[in-house]
Amino acid sequence: MGPVALLVLCLSCLLLLLDVKNISKSLSNLSKIYGPVFTVYFGMKPMVVLHGYEAIKEALIDKGKEFSGRGSFPVAEKANQGFGILFSSGKRWKEIRRFSLMTLRNLGVGKRNIEDRVQEEARCLVEELRKTNASPCDPTFILGCAPCNVICSIIFQKRFDYKDKVFLNIMERFNENVKILSSPWIQIYNNCPALLDYFPGSQNKIFKNVDFIKSYVTEKTKEHQASLDIHNPRDFIDYFLIKMEQEKHNPHGEFTIDNLTITVSDFFGAGTETTSTTLRYALLLLLKHPEVSAKVQEEIDRVVGRERSPCMQDRSHMPYTDAMVHEVQRYIDLLPTNLPHAVTCDVNFRNYLIPKGTTIITNLTSVLRDDKEFPNPEKFDPGHFLDEGGNFKKSDYFMAFSAGKRMCVGEGLARMELFLFLTTILQKFTLKAVVDVKDLDVTPVMNGFTSVPPPYQLCFIPV
Ligand code: HEM
Ligand SMILES: *[C@@H]1O[C@H](CO)[C@@H](O)[C@H](O)[C@H]1NC(C)=O
Ligand SMILES: *[C@@H]1O[C@H](CO)[C@@H](O)[C@H](O)[C@H]1NC(C)=O
Ligand SMILES: *[C@@H]1O[C@H](CO)[C@@H](O)[C@H](O)[C@H]1NC(C)=O
Ligand SMILES: *[C@@H]1O[C@H](CO)[C@@H](O)[C@H](O)[C@H]1NC(C)=O
Repeated sequence: MGPVALLVLCLSCLLLLLDVKNISKSLSNLSKIYGPVFTVYFGMKPMVVLHGYEAIKEALIDKGKEFSGRGSFPVAEKANQGFGILFSSGKRWKEIRRFSLMTLRNLGVGKRNIEDRVQEEARCLVEELRKTNASPCDPTFILGCAPCNVICSIIFQKRFDYKDKVFLNIMERFNENVKILSSPWIQIYNNCPALLDYFPGSQNKIFKNVDFIKSYVTEKTKEHQASLDIHNPRDFIDYFLIKMEQEKHNPHGEFTIDNLTITVSDFFGAGTETTSTTLRYALLLLLKHPEVSAKVQEEIDRVVGRERSPCMQDRSHMPYTDAMVHEVQRYIDLLPTNLPHAVTCDVNFRNYLIPKGTTIITNLTSVLRDDKEFPNPEKFDPGHFLDEGGNFKKSDYFMAFSAGKRMCVGEGLARMELFLFLTTILQKFTLKAVVDVKDLDVTPVMNGFTSVPPPYQLCFIPV
């Protein structure tokens, strides 16, 4: 590329940078003016924004296949080479996704199943919180360890001590990548991928971090190969190795070590920060609303008692707690604009012709904050998921995990973690704020794609 072209690119990117901070503000007005489907130009690329339950359901569910592509993420594509699950599309994505769902399902049954692993982690989490001796602490680190360890347990069969060097290294590298990927610069790179070659630095760090994970997974995979018992798969890697063996004569096979390492890296990327931010926000909301915490604790006392570890079977007898967890996810609106999708072919949608490959943004906020489905949507109130009799009430508007063919692969796992971690914590501790409850700020801070709680401290008082 010549210097002039580059200059033009940089200029358009600078304009973009000015826009990034205000983008969601400016978009919100557009839906009022143009209705539930409209196009915006982000940099030089058109994107279609869908607003409201009807339009989003019609796209992600009724026309699920057409809307199942992944919007472009040049940085991630460069790191992942278009492999894996999170950033891939088409046949590749379909096969790896189907395999991942089936493996999570298989790991969920029998002895040493996923629930056992999450319960074990919940007990370790509580022990770690006990060590804070009821003094004020920022829970970010400990709440980050538990979901990361659950993924470790599923992928590598074993959990780590929260002080283990390898574990801390894995966590740190993922946290660093999440930080880089959520900076406004990355949005610039994503719109002007040409710049990637001109600004070495942070994106090189991403590749280094991804390489570290890949080589760790490769090393673990070799150990697994040596000890594999095909009749007794222990974890995700074992299932993948078995699949690889079955597919080894297929010249177009998707199951290679390369793809295993990237898929594993996607699991960490998608399953760690999301869950730990939700837990951190949940504790803040429980601090802010002691009346909600008290009702949950009353339910735990009644259904589980003080000693036994809570299990998933308890959930059906704990409608208020179930509603609280849903309400946390609805209220915090973790991924307000979902992950970007793309249409896989030319699509006729509500009288618009959307050309193949167009990026589709779904505004999940507009569904989670729908004021007909959830009266007073700005208020944190578990009653949004309860009927008059106090029974749990499902809602099709609960799209915190998105919907349709691309919906979160870890939904079942994440829901299990949220329920078991939160009930185990509230079974063993009362949460105490370090400032007056009315001064507790619960306003979200936008961090790239995700909405995170402001920093806070609390005390875990043993019950
Ligand atoms: C509270 C926790 C979580 C939330 C709110 C969440 C939410 C989401 C959302 C909104 C998407 C994008 C769906 C779309 O493109 O339409 C997604 C994708 C994904 N999530 Fe989660 N997630 C969570 C936890 C997890 C966990 C624990 C895992 C671990 C296995 C996981 C694995 C994935 C994967 C692999 C994808 C990509 C699916 C695809 O592209 O086909 N997530 N998640
Ligand atoms: C964002 O919008 C506000 C008004 O809505 C304006 O005052 C501010 O300068 C804008 N910021 C940027 C970076 O464009
Ligand atoms: C949104 O629209 C309202 C009135 O319809 C206007 O006052 C406000 O400035 C607009 N905000 C932006 C960011 O365009
Ligand atoms: C999404 O919808 C909500 C509620 O209608 C609105 O406040 C927000 O600004 C919208 N965001 C985008 C990115 O369109
Ligand atoms: C798996 O990796 C090979 C190269 O090692 C590639 O050709 C294939 O498309 C990949 N499949 C997926 C699903 O990424």
